[in-house]
Amino acid sequence: MPVIAVEHPLIAHKLTTLRDRRTDSKLFREIVAELTLLLAYEATRDLPTRARHIETPVTGTQGTALANKDFVIAPILRAGLGMLPGLHTLLPSARVAHLGLRRDEVTKKPATYYFNYPDHLRNATVFVLDPMLATAGSLCAGIDLLKANKPERIIAICLIASPEGARRVEETHPEVKVFTSAMDERLNEHAFIVPGLGDAGDRLFGTSA
Ligand code: PRP
Repeated sequence: MPVIAVEHPLIAHKLTTLRDRRTDSKLFREIVAELTLLLAYEATRDLPTRARHIETPVTGTQGTALANKDFVIAPILRAGLGMLPGLHTLLPSARVAHLGLRRDEVTKKPATYYFNYPDHLRNATVFVLDPMLATAGSLCAGIDLLKANKPERIIAICLIASPEGARRVEETHPEVKVFTSAMDERLNEHAFIVPGLGDAGDRLFGTSA
């Protein structure tokens, strides 16, 4: 499945504010949640539906309901936590799987430090949230952890992506659709996305130097 860069004026505008180094932590958190909600609108576009009969105050009519409401949101800690409110707004009954992964600063490889997921993922559609698709090591490791529990479907949402990361996730997990607000230029020598937005976790939680 391709990595899908969603083109929309609101997404482009909000992403630019997110990239701006002057954007403070409070505004950064708000925009991360808003961007996630906008991306989730696209990421949920092909969810299956069923007919549902209702009575309006005027007459009976055939409406539409989601065919399966078994949703799980899986933020990759820490920075994926900033995306959780955006998706929870749209899918309020979704359960949450926490994926604790930290990218080693030297090797750039992710290490798992926490994994807490709800029971019974077999019928679930899982939305994995990772703000930065850099080398894609974290997203691929998170998807591996989830796949061991055999969910029905996995969809990923990333705020920004690198071409290198996009290629890797497409090769490693070809059935997983990834929605992003921008495909950036490249990774630099530190495996940071360029132009990027800095370290999403630090900017969300005020831990930068
Ligand atoms: C960052 C980011 C992604 C990951 C991306 O997290 O939030 O999860 O790196 O890099 P990758 O695609 O090369 O794996 P980090 O490990 O810095 O942890 P944090 O969210 O706790 O800041």
